[in-house]
Amino acid sequence: MIRNTLKRRAFLRAGLTGSAALAAGVAMPARAFAATQREPILRPIPASGELLPVIGLGTNAYGVDTEEAKAPLREVLRTMPGLGGSVVDTAEVYGTSEEVIGELVAEIGNRDELFIATKTPIRGEIPDVQAAIDDCFAKLQVRTMDLLQVHNLHEIDRQIPYFLRMRESGRARYIGASTSSAQQYTDFIAAMRRHPLDFIQVNYSIDDRDSAEEILPLAEELGMAVLINMPFGGRRGAASTFSRVANRPLPDWAGDIDADSWAQVFLKYVVSHPAVTAAIPGTTRLSHLRDNQAAGHGRLPDPALRREIERYWDTLEA
Ligand SMILES: NC(=O)c1ccc[n+]([C@@H]2O[C@H](COP(=O)([O-])OP(=O)(O)OC[C@H]3O[C@@H](n4cnc5c(N)ncnc54)[C@H](OP(=O)(O)O)[C@@H]3O)[C@@H](O)[C@H]2O)c1
Repeated sequence: MIRNTLKRRAFLRAGLTGSAALAAGVAMPARAFAATQREPILRPIPASGELLPVIGLGTNAYGVDTEEAKAPLREVLRTMPGLGGSVVDTAEVYGTSEEVIGELVAEIGNRDELFIATKTPIRGEIPDVQAAIDDCFAKLQVRTMDLLQVHNLHEIDRQIPYFLRMRESGRARYIGASTSSAQQYTDFIAAMRRHPLDFIQVNYSIDDRDSAEEILPLAEELGMAVLINMPFGGRRGAASTFSRVANRPLPDWAGDIDADSWAQVFLKYVVSHPAVTAAIPGTTRLSHLRDNQAAGHGRLPDPALRREIERYWDTLEA
């Protein structure tokens, strides 16, 4: 209830943010601006019914250590709730990302407007699982973690009992596990069947739809919320995703889903999958945040248009 009120207040500020952006001469496409004036699209977390906006933020490039590098990240974190977004995904392995987010969010004072998700270590034997979990809380400066995830299945059977205790005590509101590699899908599916996860996180994009074959339908069947990582093909793959449509005008059907940019087409494709709760596109730039958040408003493709987008993509040269 408190969260919804906060979200509404944050959203009302979106109008100010959008108007202020225009007054300041910051370019914002007309349709994207109109889209941010509408309510964000929300999806329920199956375990609780709590609603989440469909576009969040990935922060694997937030491991910075200079004031100059932190400045644009501060603006992204400050601005996102006003545009309707709340999910911020980080991990122990992303350099100083957890510390940077903890420091910036404490300074901005908008912890209650964010849904903070992190992941425990990904490499080597974790000597003390509880200490590794406590470390995430300390770096992020949070008393409660919205979502605690096992990263890439690392030591999942050993970690889950600790995660369950964190959930029982209320320190972690939800627990989950992530992957971003098809080589792990078979093990990931087995882990989904073995553990009572609230969330899974998996890669899915117009250029890589493999997770839609088994993982996404299984998440729906098991009542697990789904976060989508690498919706543009990943930090390294995004350049080739965007270059494949470089200089191509948006097709007419983009107007039918209120999309002003290719990024919005890619995100709307991803979040229109019925199993998906939210996508977490990674960005360090305010202009890209605005572009991406606009995809969380307006219309989404129906099944027929999803097939049309796939056909269009498949005819493009790689
Ligand atoms: N196994 C796992 O658990 C796992 C694996 C991978 C990722 N993740 C999570 O998922 C998040 C998303 O994945 P990702 O960041 O690797 O890849 P991504 O979201 O597919 O792509 C990010 C790239 O796209 C660019 N970009 C963002 N918005 C754009 C826009 N509107 N127009 C053009 N370019 C845009 C970003 O550059 P700028 O910074 O310049 O905007 C960045 O280079 C990560 O940050 C991380 O939180 C989890």
